[in-house]
Amino acid sequence: MKNLIVYSSKSGNTRKLAEAVYDFLPGENVMKSVEEKPDPEGYDLVVVGFWLQAGTADPGSYEYLEKLAPTKLFLFATHGAAVDSPHAQNAMEGAKSMVTSSQVVGAFNCQGEVNKEFLAKVQKKDPQPPWVKDADGAVGHPDAHDIANLQIILEKAVAKLRSLK
Ligand SMILES: Cc1cc2nc3c(=O)[nH]c(=O)nc-3n(C[C@H](O)[C@H](O)[C@H](O)COP(=O)(O)O)c2cc1C
Repeated sequence: MKNLIVYSSKSGNTRKLAEAVYDFLPGENVMKSVEEKPDPEGYDLVVVGFWLQAGTADPGSYEYLEKLAPTKLFLFATHGAAVDSPHAQNAMEGAKSMVTSSQVVGAFNCQGEVNKEFLAKVQKKDPQPPWVKDADGAVGHPDAHDIANLQIILEKAVAKLRSLK
């Protein structure tokens, strides 16, 4: 199995999960920043990890997903919002709706600690963006428990991918 792992990360949370995917996925793995706009051609699985900005995938990932040629895809996201919040769930659904010609074999949402200066600034806004109330719960994430959960979801995705062949 040949896998391409593409990530965007400003403060390191999404990169941490991308590295876990790189270590965990069986086969030959290639990891690239989304800024390199890697070509998905020739890979059995493409994994795209993004962070949420203004309720959607960060701009670099958004553009990459928009232009992505049809492939087998695993998506993951980090965000300040709680994992089960409508904000985080809608953002993942929004990302999926951008790649309808690809087959999404799995997806994973994870809280990611928010940059403290940015959080202090956004906490002063009135009204606050909906995710800000969850941001205290993001401190220390992604952690070992998140990575263990990611591995479980990835295992299922790999099994699904194999069943498609
Ligand atoms: C400019 C900026 C905008 C953000 N917007 C959102 C948002 O709309 N929703 C959300 O849940 N988290 C938001 N966050 C929190 C980040 O998505 C979260 O901390 C993420 O884990 C950062 O990933 P990174 O460390 O890979 O850069 C924002 C953070 C920054 C710095």
